[in-house]
Amino acid sequence: MKKTILFAGLAASALLLFAACNGTVSPASGAPTLDELYASRRSVRSYDAAKTISEEEVRTLMAATQQSPTWANTQTTRYYVAISPEKVAAAKQLVGERNAANIAGAPVVLVSTFVKGQSGFGRGTAVNEIGDGWGAYDNGLSNAYLILKAREMGFDTLIMGFRQSDGLRALFGIPDNEEVMAVIALGYRAGEPGQPNHKSLDEVVKFF
Ligand SMILES: Cc1cc2nc3c(=O)[nH]c(=O)nc-3n(C[C@H](O)[C@H](O)[C@H](O)COP(=O)(O)O)c2cc1C
Repeated sequence: MKKTILFAGLAASALLLFAACNGTVSPASGAPTLDELYASRRSVRSYDAAKTISEEEVRTLMAATQQSPTWANTQTTRYYVAISPEKVAAAKQLVGERNAANIAGAPVVLVSTFVKGQSGFGRGTAVNEIGDGWGAYDNGLSNAYLILKAREMGFDTLIMGFRQSDGLRALFGIPDNEEVMAVIALGYRAGEPGQPNHKSLDEVVKFF
């Protein structure tokens, strides 16, 4: 019996080592699967004001965004992180009244921007008709990595397109060569968020 347990233990360790060497995620790690993250990630509009998030945790989150693909590896997305109570309070004044009320308890607010004229550009000229839309595209991908990684870490988010870009520029010293995109609230859900309706797959996907 002891021998069997020892053998099983050794086999499991070998399997884990093999998985680690191959860069694969072990299903035994207890981490949520991607499908579980998709299902549990929702736009959260009520945050637990008693819970805080550290700068170190935000750094882990930011490191995940660096893994997202970008046009010719241009990496034009930038983040401005309000984490001090003063900056958080000031940033919350710049997302409209309704958003401000919804994110009142969130301990961190992020502003997402991208450097213009790089992603989708070659030698200063737009490669095609999308122009700086590619910078926005890369920025959205980066945000997608962010919100899923946040969920994996037990956090919740709200992406906000309703925001005052001029006020945010002034508050964070965002230079003119960057486009201000979404503001993202980061915190812990205070209750279970609502579930959105989704169109049928056949409405949005065509096979040929
Ligand atoms: C670019 C963008 C801008 C958004 N702006 C806001 C916003 O200003 N306020 C808000 O409450 N939700 C905002 N949302 C959240 C959407 O309403 C939400 O993603 C959608 O209803 C689907 O719900 P889900 O995120 O829970 O799946 C925004 C989402 C995106 C991607």
